[in-house]
Amino acid sequence: MSSHQTGSSVDDIVSVALSEAEFENLSRLVYERFGIYLPPEKRTMVTVRLQKVLRRMGMTSFRQYYEYIVKSSSNEPLIEFANHITTNHTFFFREKDHFDYLIKRVLPEMTAPLKRRQDYDFRMWCAGCSSGEEAYMLAMLMMEFFGAEYSMWKAGVLATDISEKALAVADGGDYVEERIALLPEEYKRKYFQALPDKIWRVKPFLKQDVVFRKFNLMNDVFPFKKPFHVIFCRNVMIYFDKPTRNALVQRFYDCLVPGGYLFIGHSETIDRTSSDFRYIIPALYQKPL
Ligand SMILES: C[S@@+](CC[C@H](N)C(=O)[O-])C[C@H]1O[C@@H](n2cnc3c(N)ncnc32)[C@H](O)[C@@H]1O
Repeated sequence: MSSHQTGSSVDDIVSVALSEAEFENLSRLVYERFGIYLPPEKRTMVTVRLQKVLRRMGMTSFRQYYEYIVKSSSNEPLIEFANHITTNHTFFFREKDHFDYLIKRVLPEMTAPLKRRQDYDFRMWCAGCSSGEEAYMLAMLMMEFFGAEYSMWKAGVLATDISEKALAVADGGDYVEERIALLPEEYKRKYFQALPDKIWRVKPFLKQDVVFRKFNLMNDVFPFKKPFHVIFCRNVMIYFDKPTRNALVQRFYDCLVPGGYLFIGHSETIDRTSSDFRYIIPALYQKPL
């Protein structure tokens, strides 16, 4: 069978070896800068995922690649490496039961006291937003929930990630059809403009209420002026080891209002012995009042 038929080429077959020492150097970097933990058994995965990247860059060893990362004046090469070994994969309405719970339980419960106090300030943070789908989803749900009252609320979504590439997609607001496949038709019509080639563009009124920023969750200080009512940090902590996760959960706790909610990914858990968060339903926790 020819390489044409198999979809591979000689290029794909030649591989660059990743020594134990090179693997340790790369793992140390992503752990120190982004909290991403690569246990030794991930060495093969890293080797396989990075083959094409090295070849594309004309590099013949992982030592060269490591030096390229550490000598760069920006964080982006390391972020790109992190992106190859983690994933930016996301889509609209991912883990939908969370959104149902948000609109049916969390939003009514959290906004009622604010309304009574005439304090129309409601803040959500989407931490590890990747290419923006989850953040736009939160803004849409907020608009649906508040309805005609939306304009009197200072409600918005802060969305952060370490990846500039992912944030550029988020800021652009253009999505291919499969990313919005789970979105109900009425949401598509209301919040998106259909472009040629099955591209769906987020409408300006939705875009203006989502602020995208680069932010590393490993920063010791979370520089937010006011606490959040709701934080979504889903499918991000899977890459962190336990001490890193526990410390991050504590920082989330500190920047939530009493009674505020933290949504995490369904494959993630919070160590309840080291945190005061109250378990609500799978992958949802609340800071006690
Ligand atoms: C799989 S995506 C999750 C997207 C979305 N939250 C979801 O559940 O669909 C994981 C994101 O976490 C980001 N990430 C990983 N480590 C991070 C860190 N230390 N600080 C901020 N973002 C990080 C990655 O860049 C990636 O975009």
